[in-house]
Amino acid sequence: MAQAGGRLWFQLYMWPDREMSRQLVQRARLVGFEALIVTVDTATGPNREYNRRNVFDLATHPGWLLRVMGRYLLNSGMPTLENLPDALRQSLTASVKTRRSLPLADSLTWDDLRELRRMWDGPLMVKGILDADDARLAVDCGADGLIVSNHGGRNLDSTIAPIDALPEVADAVGHRAHVFMDSGVRRGSDIAKALALGARAVFAGRAPLWGVAVAGEQGAARAISILRDELDRVMAYLGCPTPGARSSSLIRSDRHFFTPPSRPLHS
Ligand SMILES: Cc1cc2nc3c(=O)[nH]c(=O)nc-3n(C[C@H](O)[C@H](O)[C@H](O)COP(=O)(O)O)c2cc1C
Repeated sequence: MAQAGGRLWFQLYMWPDREMSRQLVQRARLVGFEALIVTVDTATGPNREYNRRNVFDLATHPGWLLRVMGRYLLNSGMPTLENLPDALRQSLTASVKTRRSLPLADSLTWDDLRELRRMWDGPLMVKGILDADDARLAVDCGADGLIVSNHGGRNLDSTIAPIDALPEVADAVGHRAHVFMDSGVRRGSDIAKALALGARAVFAGRAPLWGVAVAGEQGAARAISILRDELDRVMAYLGCPTPGARSSSLIRSDRHFFTPPSRPLHS
């Protein structure tokens, strides 16, 4: 699930059993999600060694389990991974060693995207695009928006950074679709760079999650407000009255450093 401007967007992985995916999309529509994001960069489960190394295993953290799960159990019951079909949900407390890896669709095709376009009459986004030709194809299949993303570097290591892919993708798509970016947004200056290089907006994954880890929902709100304040400050330094008054000339193309104007852009 993602939240954009107060709207709820449903994030979908395709499953080998396409019927399972179709049912999930219908459920998302019925419960009121407004936009559908199809993730296309996860053809198979990632090998996250750090999860094993850090013993990403709730059973080994009884204090945390009691504090956090206890609150859920009292208020709403055991939390589940709601964006998975029923048949694929596993207990959140299952051990890393016994947890089954998800059967992801390694045979995703552009026809799948066309079919989703026929099924979903709201905004449709494709997440995980890093290439201009893929961007054009996704838009040809009916995508309204693209998220230039390498999954926060959590899947394939050594992928191109989305900030490097962004200008090409934005040029390839032009005004035919909205272009967004995620992966590595940590500071307001990261947002300013993405906007300058053609993103309409960015998404942040871990930044608000770190806020959640510290202080729940308020922590997430605080992380977002820090990013917003930083963005305002960067815009002021660059002489941009609003993020909309962006310009790729503010960025050195070889490195992502700003070249602030000697005179404010709006004078
Ligand atoms: C805990 C966690 C769970 C995630 N789950 C999904 C997911 O189910 N589907 C998906 O497309 N991306 C998922 N992502 C990736 C994010 O959507 C996003 O692409 C990435 O976190 C952006 O990078 P950032 O964390 O550097 O901002 C997840 C990321 C994290 C940290």
